[in-house]
Amino acid sequence: MNQVKIGRFIADMRKQQNFTQREFAAALGISDKTVSKWECGNGMPELSFMQPICEILKIDLNELFAGEKLTDADYKEKAEENIITLVEEAERIKKNIVGGKVLGNANNVEMDVHEAHKTNAEFWSTIGSEFLGATALPNWGGFFPSEDKINLLGDLYGRKVLEIGCGNGHSLKYAADLGASDLWGLDISVSQIELSEQFLKKHGIHAKLICLPMEDECGLPTEYFDLVYSVYGIGWTTDLDKTFQQIHSYLRKDGIFVFGWSHPIHKCVSVENGRLIFSNSYFNENWYRAGMSNKEIMLSNRMLSTYINALAENGFVIVKLVEETDREKAMGAENDFGRKALMLPTVFAIKARKA
Ligand SMILES: C[S@@+](CC[C@H](N)C(=O)[O-])C[C@H]1O[C@@H](n2cnc3c(N)ncnc32)[C@H](O)[C@@H]1O
Repeated sequence: MNQVKIGRFIADMRKQQNFTQREFAAALGISDKTVSKWECGNGMPELSFMQPICEILKIDLNELFAGEKLTDADYKEKAEENIITLVEEAERIKKNIVGGKVLGNANNVEMDVHEAHKTNAEFWSTIGSEFLGATALPNWGGFFPSEDKINLLGDLYGRKVLEIGCGNGHSLKYAADLGASDLWGLDISVSQIELSEQFLKKHGIHAKLICLPMEDECGLPTEYFDLVYSVYGIGWTTDLDKTFQQIHSYLRKDGIFVFGWSHPIHKCVSVENGRLIFSNSYFNENWYRAGMSNKEIMLSNRMLSTYINALAENGFVIVKLVEETDREKAMGAENDFGRKALMLPTVFAIKARKA
């Protein structure tokens, strides 16, 4: 499906009907940002919007998928092409990747903060626990080199630290074991906070734990922390700018922010019969809903530049960007995920300083 051609066609037809982007978006009950994304070729309307779009723009579905007006002569040929493309698209959509998993039935959705928080908190309060431990320090995730090897966090002794998306507290324990003196954790899931409390208490560690979405005003002290870090937590935010602004405010001058997340290129490439196949557009930052072990998650795959530009725009200076694979670990895995990690980064980590 030619997203760029379809986007241009939507823009042309909208103008022909004398609609501004805002008017067209209002008629569909969505934001003009979403319309602009479609028109720039950076995303496709989800299925439920296709019929209303056609009605408003006075075109039919075949023309929308073809990205052009069709004459009677080329109608049948285009209809068949479109069906084949749609079947291929349905296959492609199934290959949304999170961590080492290929998700089924990932559908684009309009981002709704309340829905995203509800869905993700529910996921992390139930089966999300299966993933924890695997994404706790010293592991940054996937086949990324361990913190013991790359030392992104620096000396933790006597430091005031805050973990965003602290899960069940394993990474906070890592910081405590290395001498961090003042520990704080933030997480959206009540169950994860409870698990964290129990786990840290069992190890005689005291931490202040707060159950709130990272994008919200959390009442955390400002100009206070030496280090804010997050292991596979930041990508869950519904508002990257707001999250970085908040983190910036919590840090003291020259304080450090380090986070690791799934590398966006990893999410574009699947492994089929031992070969790497480009199965998703790197530019696609649409929000999607996907089933994962009988529950659902809501996420968006942001480009690396989105993270870096958001840091720069919110008062951070990049100290280091790491895109590496621990080759020994990846070779030892003897699975598709490991084979892929030998060819491209599956995780990235950024160390930034409050300017
Ligand atoms: C992969 S886990 C992090 C694991 C954790 N770093 C550890 O070391 O065990 C991601 C965490 O982010 C939390 N999370 C998801 N969305 C969030 C949000 N909007 N605000 C705060 N936490 C969120 C989840 O509840 C989950 O505990």
